[in-house]
Amino acid sequence: MKKICVIGVGYVGLVNGAGISDFGHKVICADIDKKKIENIKKGDLPIFEPGLKELIDRNVKSNRLLFSSDIGETIKKSDIVFIAVGTPEGDSGKADLSHVYDVALKIAKNLNNYKIICTKSTVPIGTGKEIKGIINNNKSNSIKFDYVSNPEFLREGSAVKDFLWPDRVVIGCDSNKVFKSMIEVYQPLFRNKKPIIQTEISTAEMVKYASNAFLALKISYINEIANLSEVLGCDVKMVADLIGQDGRISPKFLHPGPGYGGSCFPKDTKALVNLAKQANVPIKTITAAIDANIYQKKRMFMKLKTLLKEKIKGKTISILGLSFKPNTSDIRESSAIDIISSILKAGGHVRAFDPIANNSMKKIFPNIEYFSNWEKTVSNSDCAVIMTEWNEFRSLDLIELKDRLKTPILFDTRNIFDQRKLLELGFSFDTVGRKKNIKY
Ligand code: UGA
Repeated sequence: MKKICVIGVGYVGLVNGAGISDFGHKVICADIDKKKIENIKKGDLPIFEPGLKELIDRNVKSNRLLFSSDIGETIKKSDIVFIAVGTPEGDSGKADLSHVYDVALKIAKNLNNYKIICTKSTVPIGTGKEIKGIINNNKSNSIKFDYVSNPEFLREGSAVKDFLWPDRVVIGCDSNKVFKSMIEVYQPLFRNKKPIIQTEISTAEMVKYASNAFLALKISYINEIANLSEVLGCDVKMVADLIGQDGRISPKFLHPGPGYGGSCFPKDTKALVNLAKQANVPIKTITAAIDANIYQKKRMFMKLKTLLKEKIKGKTISILGLSFKPNTSDIRESSAIDIISSILKAGGHVRAFDPIANNSMKKIFPNIEYFSNWEKTVSNSDCAVIMTEWNEFRSLDLIELKDRLKTPILFDTRNIFDQRKLLELGFSFDTVGRKKNIKY
């Protein structure tokens, strides 16, 4: 059993802290936000993440998981310190590392015995060196520490599952001794034969950016193929299925849609472009992926306008799904924001519903109407738009949807409905990259 702390209780810190305590270690999750810590202690979590509450409750009960807002004391009590604070987008797309630097300084001031300092936050290549420098320059003793880059690959909405069953664990460090200690942290995974791989620190930092940017690129690629398929009369769903059967391509992350969102892809792609610019190395593919995503978000409104015969003014449009993906209340960079804002600018009215993200969206659009279920939302609307592929929309009763709408017009930006059924029921509809007049 190791004594571990995780600094920062965002979704990365909270899931990691709870997950590592579940592996049998003693973990303190700490944050400077006292209110947040108090709320968590009362059982009120700052994020919605399936399975997280149960994981936290179980480990709090077993006394393996504690919460604190005293960062200094927490660091002193720990042998391994995980840095899991946010690295939001800063000026010109560069990652803002101020929170990471603050934590590094606190570590330096509270270095009371040998520790492993491990960064989970997504940080630009070279940050490890900077963190080491900050600690070395600010500690007032000769106590030693080692540094590890251990990037996370958790997806919101399935973060607990991804933590407990990862594809790989990447440990960037300078010595085998440190690597062995980190293997002990992740011991249960090792026993389950999950690969735990040692790399250099800078390589581990790059793996994170390169993974996210590649996935963003894959989505932008299939979105562009979808747009071309629309014009040329092909069905992108079938194209994606069939290219995905090539083992070199794989079917994952080939779902066309309204453009990627979230707190990671938009920020990390821009940060990678920024790094490449600084290094004076062209990275045209990622720049193109970013541009394609901006266009994809705009294109959704253009398609909606076409579906409504260019008349948005005075129309009531129901938006079903507000979060950037299902199973999360996170609306950061969600395509729903772009489409709602364009509808409002064009003089349309918006009725909105998300199973859990209504409150988050209210902070951005306080004056649109929010509902507690899809049925009430679509009633008497001129059109319904699916923006997030929540399961409850997948199984929605299309006959009832048609009855409730003023006019049976549907825009399915996530391609969740059977087009034949929509045609049979007499919907006027649009999708992303699919053929409407199916003949087979
Ligand atoms: C992403 C990565 O998938 C994680 O591996 C990584 O750890 C995380 O960022 C991070 O850096 O913290 P996340 O942003 O939670 O995870 O969500 P994803 O499932 O990757 O989806 C991102 C966006 O892409 C969503 O808007 C989703 O709707 C969209 N998407 C995804 C598509 O449009 N099509 C697809 O085929 C897949």
